[in-house]
Amino acid sequence: MSDSWWRSAAVYQVYVRSFADSDGDGIGDLRGVRNRLPYLRDLGVDALWLTPFYRSPMIDGGYDVADYRDVDPMFGTLADFDAMIADAHALGLRVIVDIVPNHTSDAHPWFVSALAGVDRDRYIFRDRPNDWESIFGGPAWTQVADGQWYLHLFDPSQPDLNWEHPDVRAEFEDVLRFWLDRGVDGFRVDVAHGMIKAAGLPDVGFMPGRQVELLGRGRLPYFDQDEVHEIYRAWRPILDSYPGERIAVAEAWAETPQRLARYVGPDELHQAFNFDFLDATWSADSFRKVIDSSLAEAAIVGAPTTWVLSNHDKPRHVTRYGDGDVGLRRARAATLLMLALPGSAYLYQGEELGLPEVLDLPDEVRQDPAFLRTGLSRDGCRVPLPWDGTAPPYGFGPGGSWLPAPPSWAGLSVAAQTGAPGSTLELYRAALRLRRTTAGDLTWLQTEPDVLAFRRASGLVCAVNLTSSPVHVPAWGPVLLASSPAPLPPLSAVDQGQTAVDGSLFRDRMPLIGEEILDRRGGVVLPADTAMWFDGAATG
Ligand code: GLC
Repeated sequence: MSDSWWRSAAVYQVYVRSFADSDGDGIGDLRGVRNRLPYLRDLGVDALWLTPFYRSPMIDGGYDVADYRDVDPMFGTLADFDAMIADAHALGLRVIVDIVPNHTSDAHPWFVSALAGVDRDRYIFRDRPNDWESIFGGPAWTQVADGQWYLHLFDPSQPDLNWEHPDVRAEFEDVLRFWLDRGVDGFRVDVAHGMIKAAGLPDVGFMPGRQVELLGRGRLPYFDQDEVHEIYRAWRPILDSYPGERIAVAEAWAETPQRLARYVGPDELHQAFNFDFLDATWSADSFRKVIDSSLAEAAIVGAPTTWVLSNHDKPRHVTRYGDGDVGLRRARAATLLMLALPGSAYLYQGEELGLPEVLDLPDEVRQDPAFLRTGLSRDGCRVPLPWDGTAPPYGFGPGGSWLPAPPSWAGLSVAAQTGAPGSTLELYRAALRLRRTTAGDLTWLQTEPDVLAFRRASGLVCAVNLTSSPVHVPAWGPVLLASSPAPLPPLSAVDQGQTAVDGSLFRDRMPLIGEEILDRRGGVVLPADTAMWFDGAATG
């Protein structure tokens, strides 16, 4: 399957307004993306996914689209998009764009007409609201001047479309073609589980004020309805009618891995994000369960699974795993785990720099609409990237940045980490390079509790120590890569049986790739909260 690029692709999510700013307005743009494409090529990813750059009032960071066929002036022009995608393809990078079919912006001409009483049934208007709640908090209904209410599963500025209306279906099929004709390699389908609502819009009837907690865990009359699959069965032939395997990946939340797998298959979408992996807690048991169930479900539908640790909606994984040194150690280990798994991996910009969530943004700069409704905000993972320099905005652009970067980020910039031994950026580069030679099924290896180890058919062995003490693991082969930024023990100390590993033993010795750190039993010491890759081809 030489053409099935997406089955094992590493896809890098570009949150456009925070990636790179070319014109000094403090907002990232398509020229900024274009200028930095060589960085992504050198990082070793296969594709980029661009978050929405369409015309938008930007109430929800562009997920409120006013014109699906144009670039918002703050991000550039269609010509900038064409130039960017041409360069990306010339560098061997594929480009996936976001499509937002569940709702439009309230500034979309259709909604403006609907408010004026024209073609209102392209949206969901009712005389009385039901008990449905917005994902961003509060009721999912807003009343308009003539007394009717419209449905918005997100912000009131994002009215839900009525997918029972033929205009809606025709419009999005045309939008797909518009971007496919411009050369995109695929789509990330926003809220892919949301477009069809249960007939009659029945009340949920329970968990008032907390319906959002059922997302991905229970059944809701506004999510994951069986009829949503008809939409994807209509989209797939459109994707398949273009050369070069154009794909779609669903942002879908479903009650079980089985229901999530229904979005994927030869007649529907190619992939679905696997948020269970992102939600796994720092324990071998938690990761193992998710990996086993994801692989099993993917095998049934004959599609590769996907792995994701961070995105623009979730606190960054460094911070989820404990923040500070511990969080970073675990995040680096989780990344080696993810990149060793079969399937495709989605990386979120900045994770390759080990960026933490910015927790102390002043309220007045926060822009997430959810913040106003719930007090929770996703802005902390959207702070513009540090590229170089010693002061904010660290080379993000010639002006400022729409969210301020912390004063502590100078050492995390791309320039600071490039070529620095043991840096997170160099770890990602090495891992992405080695990943390209990794293939085949996964077999679990026997280990002690809270240690995960598996072998890929091509020979790579990945071991992860999820305990807070060092553990001894067999030497499955030469060490190819270690997530630990900390020094490893001198051989002599371990040889002498000093197995109680504390920092003092390791001070003078940095890990050398390809060098085994042998313990007395001929095994390897795997420090707390770290992962290692071994070349296990000879021991398989
Ligand atoms: C998706 C996006 C999120 C957005 C929401 C509404 O979940 O990832 O950023 O707020 O859809 O479009």
